[in-house]
Amino acid sequence: MSTTSKDVTVDARPKRQQTAKNIAARKGDTPIVCLTAYITPMAARLDQHCDLLLVGDSVGMVLYGLDSTLGVDLEMMIRHGRAVCRGAKQALVVIDMPFGSYEESKEQAFRNAARVLSETGAGAVKLEGGVEMAETVRFLSRRGIPVLGHVGLMPQSVHAHGGYGARGRTVDEWQPIIDDAIAIAEAGAFAVVLEGVAEPLARKVTEVLSVPVIGIGASNACDGQILVTEDMLGLFAINPKFVKRFAEIGRDIEGAIAEYADEVRSRSFPAEEHTYKMRGANS
Ligand code: KIV
Repeated sequence: MSTTSKDVTVDARPKRQQTAKNIAARKGDTPIVCLTAYITPMAARLDQHCDLLLVGDSVGMVLYGLDSTLGVDLEMMIRHGRAVCRGAKQALVVIDMPFGSYEESKEQAFRNAARVLSETGAGAVKLEGGVEMAETVRFLSRRGIPVLGHVGLMPQSVHAHGGYGARGRTVDEWQPIIDDAIAIAEAGAFAVVLEGVAEPLARKVTEVLSVPVIGIGASNACDGQILVTEDMLGLFAINPKFVKRFAEIGRDIEGAIAEYADEVRSRSFPAEEHTYKMRGANS
């Protein structure tokens, strides 16, 4: 429930730190609200409205201008993970395991995931993969590391899959995705992100899993939704079909910068009120 005071919308839900366990218990309940965050001030703004904040490896594309998420490393994730944990008081912070940091063996995955949690203060990690990652998910979950799975379109496998197109748009593509989701959930994932799939498949996966399914480009049939915050705020020119722009901050930033440039050039900024006076001078 939300109330609005002046220009600020305040979420009136009682605040408590979300955990992987709380999120897992939300299966079939009110939809789980998730967004990405990479920096402290953004995390602080999102925190009161979200159940889960993901420090996604999309940070590489969104903040560093990389072409894909493949160039993101563990240090980058830990640095941004710490920043987000400083801003988040009640949402569960989940940190993406970057490409190459967990696929080699379950031991490698444990070592790196343990570093991520102990060095950031986050409550869980996310990793991409289905059947082939189930053993790793089981190994981590049984050793105290909550795991959010990620199946369907998996951006770290963009080269293997040949692009970012939606999956499961013909029925013959369904079974491997369903098998992936079941394998990860049965291995102990507390929830599963399902990315870029046709609505009937999303509905099916949501029905068969006993843990929450968090959709991105996967229809409203899922137990929750996640978007890249900068996408839904309109910071990028590229606008995938599944993103609704809730703001146009890219346009607003350009307008503000143009105004600043004009005012600097015309010497109307800084004005009197932005200017220090000598101590003791009038006003
Ligand atoms: O890296 C990311 O931002 C993600 C998404 C699920 C949004 O994995």
